[in-house]
Amino acid sequence: MTPRRLPDGFLLGCATAAHQVEGGIDNDWSRWVADHPEAINGGGDAVVAIDHYRRYREDLEQLGSMHHNAHRFSIEWARVEPEPGHFDQDALAHYADVARTCRRNGMEPVVTLQHFTLPLWLRDSGGFTAPDAPAQFARYVAGCVEALGDAVTWWVTVNEPTVVAVLGHLEGSWPPGERSLRHTFAALRGLLRMHAAGAQAISTVSARHGRPAQVSIAHHERRFVPRDPSSPVDRAVAKLPDFLFNRWFLRSCIAGRVLGPVGHGERVPGLAGSLSYLGLNHYTSEAVSLDIGAPGMLFAHHEAMPGMPLSSTGWAIDAGALRRAITDLFDEFHLPIVITENGVADDHDELRPAFLRDHLGAVVDTIADGIDVRGYLYWTAWDNFEWAEGYTQRFGLFSVDRETQERIAKPSAHLFSEICRTREVPS
Ligand code: FCB
Repeated sequence: MTPRRLPDGFLLGCATAAHQVEGGIDNDWSRWVADHPEAINGGGDAVVAIDHYRRYREDLEQLGSMHHNAHRFSIEWARVEPEPGHFDQDALAHYADVARTCRRNGMEPVVTLQHFTLPLWLRDSGGFTAPDAPAQFARYVAGCVEALGDAVTWWVTVNEPTVVAVLGHLEGSWPPGERSLRHTFAALRGLLRMHAAGAQAISTVSARHGRPAQVSIAHHERRFVPRDPSSPVDRAVAKLPDFLFNRWFLRSCIAGRVLGPVGHGERVPGLAGSLSYLGLNHYTSEAVSLDIGAPGMLFAHHEAMPGMPLSSTGWAIDAGALRRAITDLFDEFHLPIVITENGVADDHDELRPAFLRDHLGAVVDTIADGIDVRGYLYWTAWDNFEWAEGYTQRFGLFSVDRETQERIAKPSAHLFSEICRTREVPS
């Protein structure tokens, strides 16, 4: 079979997040882990993580040498602004150097400004629900764009706002450990306002310097399919999580308003027109059926899509779902799409080669359908601290010896490198 080809200029590389790799960070997550070690599968922490804060030069050089032409990383707010309004110039200089090091190694930086974690001072004043969180975020974002903007065009304001709101405020498995639909909605409203304020700050600072800027959130899309498609009940229970989780935030961005049921249609300054592309994080699909005993889950029982192979997290591996997600998002929002995350946890690198071929193949197919997909960032470069999963879930193209910090390329790292070099996806 002829290999399928990705267009020239297509962004190909990996995605990472500061807290998961850097080590040495004091923020809401590090305190949460210290106070609730039982909340972390296998009991790990990110005190050292994979020491990427010190090793970023060699790490990025290695990815560049494997023909990646893009790299997504996040800036750690708690490092850059340890006290409200006080910027740590060394930390800003560090991240500016990370962006320049990407460029020196042939990689376009894609920079996330908030990837799940918060500085302690913001946690203590209410986190995402603090009334001044949007203004605080805008000030921090403006500082970052001033410091990094000559090397960065692609920005992500907030990573997966619905995930962080649901896990931290509804399921309670992440900080701040709440279980309240009311607080979940309050967090979502706060995150929407933070995104709008951050997007405005990016535009203002970039325009002042005459620099181009592309702005999005990283939107997590999980396909929810009725367990029995012929059952009106299953169809109905799949609809609500699909709207809340997959559409509410984006539709609010387009409308420029806080849509119901989370808000009452109130207008948010800077929200309309805040997305210039759509960052898509996609992992899996789920079958949904009625569960009368689960009001906290909106009466829905979720299970891995039947009939699909499972990753070590138990998530269904479903490349067709990625294709459908891209198609549906493009049909509705007409924005260029960058896959800001897509990956698989796989202990022995047995599933990952086929995963890469199938998912990149799905991307090629959507491009052939006429959809404007600009890039694909595999989650993730190195096995790392996977939030509540600790070090038990291995998404990396490289494993890391946590005693010596040696990075060891898995076979799929070489396969991905070959795809990056040739732009051809083997069938
Ligand atoms: C996404 C997160 C990322 C990582 C992957 C596995 O939801 O954005 O940090 O944990 O899942």
